Amino acid sequence: MMQSNPVSNRDLTVGKRPRLLAVANQKGGVGKTTTAVNLATALCAVGQRVLLVDLDAQGNASTGLGIRRADVEKSTYDVLFDDADIEEISVKTKVPGLFVVPSSVHLAGAEIELVSVDEREYKLKKALRKPLPYDYVIVDCPPSLSLLTLNAFVAVDSIVVPLQCEFFALEGLSHLIKTIERVKRSFNSELDIHGVVLTMFDKRNNLSGAVAADVRKYFGDKVYKTVIPRNVRLSEAPSYGLPAIVYDMKCPGAQAYIHLASEVIRRERKLLKEAAAA
Ligand SMILES: Nc1ncnc2c1ncn2[C@@H]1O[C@H](COP(=O)(O)OP(=O)(O)O)[C@@H](O)[C@H]1O
Ligand SMILES: [Mg+2]
Repeated sequence: MMQSNPVSNRDLTVGKRPRLLAVANQKGGVGKTTTAVNLATALCAVGQRVLLVDLDAQGNASTGLGIRRADVEKSTYDVLFDDADIEEISVKTKVPGLFVVPSSVHLAGAEIELVSVDEREYKLKKALRKPLPYDYVIVDCPPSLSLLTLNAFVAVDSIVVPLQCEFFALEGLSHLIKTIERVKRSFNSELDIHGVVLTMFDKRNNLSGAVAADVRKYFGDKVYKTVIPRNVRLSEAPSYGLPAIVYDMKCPGAQAYIHLASEVIRRERKLLKEAAAA
């Protein structure tokens, strides 16, 4: 399944700098890591080279890709505090074309340590906004709007926001949007929401449908057409150290992430076309 694919948009990437996406929502358990890992894998499946940066001290993206904590020598922490070279510390995964900068427990203290660092908002940007041998860099953010997430927002081109289809889906979102506006004003004027992805959709539950309709009303066509269903295979896969797309490619969750990746690529193409015409 991992052979290169004619829809590769490598030729369309701006210069040699990869496109930088953050997966963010300050709520925990909404599907950020699941989205980061499976979107990254699905992009690789269509011939993209992808780097996943694990910015969460929990390290679920790293372990979900089979990286054992004990084996991690250098991590995102070293990128932030020691100017460690991304290329040197990125680790190959079992997915062809997918590399990861793993997390470490040291990230748990990074919030506080960053406060006293010069240019503390720009640490990740310095490491990522340069020519790197990837088509996409995907940053898996922690469940907060703290300095780590701020670093991601300053560094990236665009944000993918997973929203869980449950009653309080929109709660706290105004805080996220205000943070994005603030980063746009002060640090990164081009920052934008790439799209909103509805996760853990349960078609047997009327509430899921109602929430999805609400979110579409609020965000319009920023919401991806692809909806990620609630699917137990997605939650089993990380315990095998595999993305669901590798663990069980045919399961509905994996299929949904494959669709999401093609939507992401289509949006990218459109953005590049608009940029070229401007
Ligand atoms: N679509 C889904 N269906 C079923 N379980 C899911 C789905 N998406 C995520 N999960 C599970 O829900 C939990 C939280 O997801 P996760 O991606 O870790 O969220 P976050 O990174 O936002 O905290 C995990 O146990 C994950 O395996
Ligand atoms: Mg997570």
